[in-house]
Amino acid sequence: MSRIRRFSIGNPIDTEAVLKKLPKDKGGIPYFQRIQKMEVEKFSEDSQETMVQRDYLSYVMGPEVKIYGLGENVRGIDKRGWVYESNCTDDPNHTEGKHALYGAHNFFVVAGKETFGVFLDYPGKLTLDFGYTRMDEIHITPEEWNLDLYFLEGDTILEIVKEFRRLVGRSYIPPRWAFGYGQSRWGYQSEADIRAVVKGYRENQIPLDAVYLDIDYMEEFKDFTVDQERFPNFSDFVEEMKQEHIHLVPIIDAGVKIEEGYQVYEEGVKKDYFCKDQEGKDFVGAVWPGKVHFPDVLNKNARKWFGKKYKYLLDQGIEGFWNDMNEPAIFYSEKNLEQVMKKIKSMKYKNMDMWEVFAFRDLVNGLANNPEDYKSFYHKINGTSVRHDKVHNLYGYGMTRAAGEAFEELEPEKRILMFSRASYIGMHRYGGVWMGDNQSWWSHLLLNLKMLPSLNMCGFLYTGADLGGFGSDVTEDLLLRWLALGIFTPLMRNHSALGTREQECYRFTQTETFRKLIGIRYGLMPYLYSEYMKAALRDELLFSPLAFVYPEDDHAREVEDQLLLGESIMIAPVYTQNAKGRYVYLPEPMKLVRMRSVEEIETEVLEKGHYYVEVPLEEVVFFIRPGKIVPYTKSGQFVEEEYQEKDIRLLHFAEEKAEYEWYQDDGYGKDYENPKHYRKLQVK
Ligand code: GLC
Repeated sequence: MSRIRRFSIGNPIDTEAVLKKLPKDKGGIPYFQRIQKMEVEKFSEDSQETMVQRDYLSYVMGPEVKIYGLGENVRGIDKRGWVYESNCTDDPNHTEGKHALYGAHNFFVVAGKETFGVFLDYPGKLTLDFGYTRMDEIHITPEEWNLDLYFLEGDTILEIVKEFRRLVGRSYIPPRWAFGYGQSRWGYQSEADIRAVVKGYRENQIPLDAVYLDIDYMEEFKDFTVDQERFPNFSDFVEEMKQEHIHLVPIIDAGVKIEEGYQVYEEGVKKDYFCKDQEGKDFVGAVWPGKVHFPDVLNKNARKWFGKKYKYLLDQGIEGFWNDMNEPAIFYSEKNLEQVMKKIKSMKYKNMDMWEVFAFRDLVNGLANNPEDYKSFYHKINGTSVRHDKVHNLYGYGMTRAAGEAFEELEPEKRILMFSRASYIGMHRYGGVWMGDNQSWWSHLLLNLKMLPSLNMCGFLYTGADLGGFGSDVTEDLLLRWLALGIFTPLMRNHSALGTREQECYRFTQTETFRKLIGIRYGLMPYLYSEYMKAALRDELLFSPLAFVYPEDDHAREVEDQLLLGESIMIAPVYTQNAKGRYVYLPEPMKLVRMRSVEEIETEVLEKGHYYVEVPLEEVVFFIRPGKIVPYTKSGQFVEEEYQEKDIRLLHFAEEKAEYEWYQDDGYGKDYENPKHYRKLQVK
């Protein structure tokens, strides 16, 4: 049994997160109480007492309550015990003390004596205090009281999540080659650099399907341009790479460079498609190219216009993109920079005390992504001017939707790869997300794992982190361990920042281990792709916390570092440096699979219980559930080489008969529903 109710407060902006709007429920909001009160607040010993208006939704949690969801955010799978913000933020330091990352995903499930799901459809800043102010209360505070609230009920958490996913619509499905391994780095400058990367992989027989083009491919960081000196024959080069079975995936940024003669800029100005400032002029921010305008992707016509710009690259043979800096990130605004410069000038020759030094430092640090800037520009939504901060979380969604809608028109028969940095629920229909600028830290390997089920709950199935870490210098063991998780994530991309240690696999000593590890991903593709497709087509999770599948099991409910992947597998990656292995909890008997490569496999049946499992750096360990099958194949150098049905082999933990429903299609087309794509694989 499942049930969804929609409540509406004030005048919500239609985010189009939900496919079909339900009629408003006329009753009172369930579970939560709206608390409106005046409170005395004193900021410090000697400060004056001030009266503060408090207005929030409150829910009292029993000690047993766990909270799941919120998509991309810091901290645990169980989100209880911290205050989160729904506020798309460009911040590369994903530490526990932060409150928001790049996405704004306002869906969560409260699981306790009563279990229910909540979706707050609100595109502005929202505070989700999950036991921070008071350990036993949830406090929800939108910046303004204009929102739609959905309450979902069902017999199990999985059922509630499925119901939610149905409400918001089918998750994005990428082409199959996008499940191959990809190499990226901010700093690949030219055709020669890319060729060297491909050579490094192919010569060492480490599989590879994609190389990502970061901002360096553009001419002066201008969207929809290619630098003619460094890529003199771009479409020939794209073709040359295709011959090597490599897809080039260029980045597109939100800001459009202000430059006379640059067509995208000139058209946008002429057609009035950029966001406006308070005076009605095109808003000026700055990102990579210096001063930019932001296309108003919340305005239908502007969105359509911006989307069509991708054609320039599609026409040159490109089949995939990543959308970046679309929170949107703003290095500085023209206006704020002017004021800051003035203040700094006035401080010249000053004997600054502590407070003045702090203030001086904050002036410069506060230039980027300044909340005041987000309040100083406007969108035109269905003819009405709306201040940006009120719809901040929709910008990345709008940009990716622009592309997604254009692809439907330009390439109706073909899947185009698309993933974004910023996102809101609803965007999951148009593209995936990567988890943004992480660091080469062991804690971020674990955070990568924890975000997977939360993102899946919110509809984002095509996702993954920058493997090896984006910022900081990676170590060889960290990259190996991270890849051992990455071989299970739909987006499997190694990406790193300019100035950090080079982290292409062939630059390290254990080339053979890299080859075999990534080879395991390719070997497991029949299972991984099939599970992805079924999860997308059935609105299900690809990654589940153990708590969702074994809700009666006290230990399973506590596990935060193992996940179920599809119907057959449990993963338990190592995320600690120098560890020889790790503790694993088996909530039921399982078959341990130890792979050195797809040709070197050992298995062992284990009873339910706690184990210390040794996992050398050269091995991947996972577990098969009772009665389940994992189809796999030999490993190759690129995805298209793999999929011969005759090569399918079966790993299984079946004492008697077992069956697996194997989904297999051409990986490009869109006739997803065709029953021919489903085949039964059987043992005994
Ligand atoms: C942003 C992106 C990162 C990219 C960089 C340069 O930080 O998140 O992935 O490499 O910009 O384009």
